[in-house]
Amino acid sequence: MAMLAPTPAGLAGRDLLSVDQLGRDRLIELLDLADHLKMLQGRGVPHRLLPGRTLAMIFQKASTRTRVSFEVGIGQLGGSAVVLSSSEMQLGRGESIEDTGIVLSRYVDAIMIRAGAHAEVEALAAAACVPVINGLTDLHHPCQALADAQTLRERLGDLDGRTLAWVGDGCNNVCHSLITAVGMLGMEVRVATPLGFEPDPAVVAAAGPVTVTDDPLEAVAGADAVATDVWTSMGQEAERDQRVSNLTPYQVNRELLASAAPGHVVLHCLPAHYGEEITHEVLHGPSSAAWDEAENRLHAQKALMAMVMA
Ligand code: CP
Ligand code: NVA
Repeated sequence: MAMLAPTPAGLAGRDLLSVDQLGRDRLIELLDLADHLKMLQGRGVPHRLLPGRTLAMIFQKASTRTRVSFEVGIGQLGGSAVVLSSSEMQLGRGESIEDTGIVLSRYVDAIMIRAGAHAEVEALAAAACVPVINGLTDLHHPCQALADAQTLRERLGDLDGRTLAWVGDGCNNVCHSLITAVGMLGMEVRVATPLGFEPDPAVVAAAGPVTVTDDPLEAVAGADAVATDVWTSMGQEAERDQRVSNLTPYQVNRELLASAAPGHVVLHCLPAHYGEEITHEVLHGPSSAAWDEAENRLHAQKALMAMVMA
């Protein structure tokens, strides 16, 4: 029978608001644990690392993968989840995020929040006495990046020296977290995006070397991984027409991928807008890792919870 991995050292600061907070060593430790938990899950071996622990999940925006993977994941670890829509909370009627954090800390062992402004999640983390996990803000989506990195390691092996090209909206939460994570793992990072859609300069500064170009072919040439996300993120709906107009040359399709490295993989966090940032043919084709990526949200977040809630 497979043994459980040794108890992870845990995060020094136990919040995860952005992936750079982990540092390279703990990121690798987390990904190794995620692989181990995936193996145990696949073999049907119980791994109740968090018996009796409770996770509160606050949603200020819609979710399918984040909600289900966290709720199923904490259950598989022996704990339970309380799912809270902000519109049904006093938070939605004006109670402060700080007071919400103080009160929830009296009931639960960790808080996951999906929000708009990143500063709101920082305020929650500052007020809460339990670990806070960022389940997406306008600036970062670290949980997605953990699953993406796990998926890339599965598909490509050692990532050191390999190349990832992001194509599309560069000033995007998923892009920010992904380029940070894979940069920490030694990948060369290129971003192809139009003028005005570049990644946040502070994120790039923390992420390490990133080549930004407005030429998708230049970014994708020889790339081992090509990643994209929707052109209109949650909260940007009023800008949709302008965004589609600017980003149309940045679609990930068969023609663009012809210049990528043989055996390249395509990442998309989902949900996808077919015919905009990616074609149906590519997302459902042999180079797509999007479905494993979605599954790995479960395994990577279980590893994260085991590290911050143990
Ligand atoms: N990728 C992702 O976060 O999906 P959901 O919005 O469905 O949670
Ligand atoms: N960038 C997208 C990601 C969704 C998972 C959004 O913020 O809507």
